[in-house]
Amino acid sequence: MCGIVGAVAERNVTPILLEGLRRLEYRGYDSAGIAVLDQDECINRVRRVGKVKELSDALQQNDIRGVLGVAHTRWATHGEPSEKNAHPHMCNKSVVIVHNGIIENHSVLREQQINEGFEFTSQTDTEVAVHQVEHYLKIEDDLLKAVRLAVADFEGAYALGVISKKENNRLVATRRGSPLVIGVGIGEYFIASDAAALLPVTRRFIYLEEGDIADIRTNALTIYNDKGDIVEREIKESELSADATSKGEYRHFMLKEIHEQPSCLIDILEGRFVNGQLLDSAFGIGIDGRSAVEILDQVKAVQIIACGTSYHAGLVARYWLEAIAGIPCRVEVASEYRYRKTVLMDDTLVVTISQSGETADTLAALREIKELTNLTLAVCNVPESSLVRESELKLMTRAGPEIGVASTKAFTTQLIALLMLVAALGKRRGLAADKIKTLFQQAQALPALIEQVLQNKADIDAWSEHFTDLDNAIFIGRGTLFPIALEGALKLKEISYIHADAYPAGELKHGPIALIDQDLPTIAIASMDGYEGKIKSNIQEILARGGKVYLFADERLDVSDLGENCYVMKVPAVDADLAPILFSIPMQLFSYFVALRKGTDVDQPRNLAKSVTVE
Ligand code: AGP
Repeated sequence: MCGIVGAVAERNVTPILLEGLRRLEYRGYDSAGIAVLDQDECINRVRRVGKVKELSDALQQNDIRGVLGVAHTRWATHGEPSEKNAHPHMCNKSVVIVHNGIIENHSVLREQQINEGFEFTSQTDTEVAVHQVEHYLKIEDDLLKAVRLAVADFEGAYALGVISKKENNRLVATRRGSPLVIGVGIGEYFIASDAAALLPVTRRFIYLEEGDIADIRTNALTIYNDKGDIVEREIKESELSADATSKGEYRHFMLKEIHEQPSCLIDILEGRFVNGQLLDSAFGIGIDGRSAVEILDQVKAVQIIACGTSYHAGLVARYWLEAIAGIPCRVEVASEYRYRKTVLMDDTLVVTISQSGETADTLAALREIKELTNLTLAVCNVPESSLVRESELKLMTRAGPEIGVASTKAFTTQLIALLMLVAALGKRRGLAADKIKTLFQQAQALPALIEQVLQNKADIDAWSEHFTDLDNAIFIGRGTLFPIALEGALKLKEISYIHADAYPAGELKHGPIALIDQDLPTIAIASMDGYEGKIKSNIQEILARGGKVYLFADERLDVSDLGENCYVMKVPAVDADLAPILFSIPMQLFSYFVALRKGTDVDQPRNLAKSVTVE
């Protein structure tokens, strides 16, 4: 987590760094700080607890200017959110560092540095990084060499931006395990944790590889790989526009992103479902040059690995892969998978799912598994991400930047992407071409159905009023709608801070039903998937125990027998296979409106960050 930004230019870089921080705030918002080297070769640093707004208010009082600088927005790992723990960290008022990642051997380094006489002013792991650079500067007197020697001592993950007061036209940047991009300007360069942070100043980007170190001056850029050799890294032109990351007419990014789903679902199929056929070219080409066709032909089983919302997409895919494609599938959260001793059947395709493509646990699991197989596929929203670059095949979800911490459009596009995988593997196992054609024709009809759900916003908002004073809720679903219940509960937890659990409806009677009383509402979801009779019985069991149920139901479901304690909201009729995608929308809107009424910070809920790049 954390966002870093840096610049070396011939103009004042403070506003560029501040705007970069605003755009990186989704990565963490516990504190923010900036340091620039002024024309008298003095480092001026300002740090504030809280959001970037606090920092920019402070800068109104204390206008610091300079042509070289770094800045940081923090998601606290080591040390509470405080001004002392805020980055940039500094040593002897001479060297300055911003860091994203975790230096895992910081305790050992800290002890060595204390013995050497370095004074610590924070509880962070990062402070050892700045002292270690200073330690080597005393030996080498060259910033690049000092950074290279210092990072060789670090265990863990880092993206670093480093400046020194002795070198007023030099920014050194390096990464291992955390993302870092160089923005290429005219006579100026920038660094940032992601390209969107720099869109107001450039659209040309270089994505650093693992272990790269960049020596950056206004008029020169040299990149060294982890062996110390000079390397050429391609400059890529970004297709994103600067306002792709603005809220537009919407009050929150989350609401904007919910409304973008109809067009995202059109975009993801564009050029991939043609003349009633799904093209294998959607999966790209293997790193080693093998075609997607060749790789997919080999697959006999699927192992999905992901975190959070992306994991829920994987759970839906398991139902689909087994029921529609007839292929065995296992799904696991990455933080467990990466440390567990696992058995991988031969010819298993390992599918990682991630919006950001930088989630530390998912990335680590992929790296572990690459020791065993090269049958890997990343389902991801960020083409330049580490996950995509390190996977054999890639299936891009094309959702565009997702800024709200609560994932919405990334989730529904992941589901469509996974449906493509189901079709690609299914057709190799005799799934009829007609079935695939119908499936995707129905997927093409989803945007219109989603628009209808969006029209019901006011009704969903009215329901949300019942939840503002509650502390707990239960979600239930069956079949592919069980993962959607999990996702609904996650959304409600993360943005409204209401504790919510989700259960397969049939599991209630094995324990959770003991919780039911008039103060614990149940949110139920039911499509016409063959389980509708079963879930109606489960709802009756809740009602019989004095519970209240809020039911999102396919409009064809007969709900006349459910009684007045079951509130019903109709969802447009949808094919059972596609129901998890459509039913996600009311779940998202529901949690959004509850959060809005509770007055929480919808786009940046407490304790969270968009991209979880630490363990
Ligand atoms: C979802 O609303 C969350 N913010 C979170 O669970 C997220 O899905 C998870 O951290 C995984 O992120 P990724 O998709 O970028 O890997």
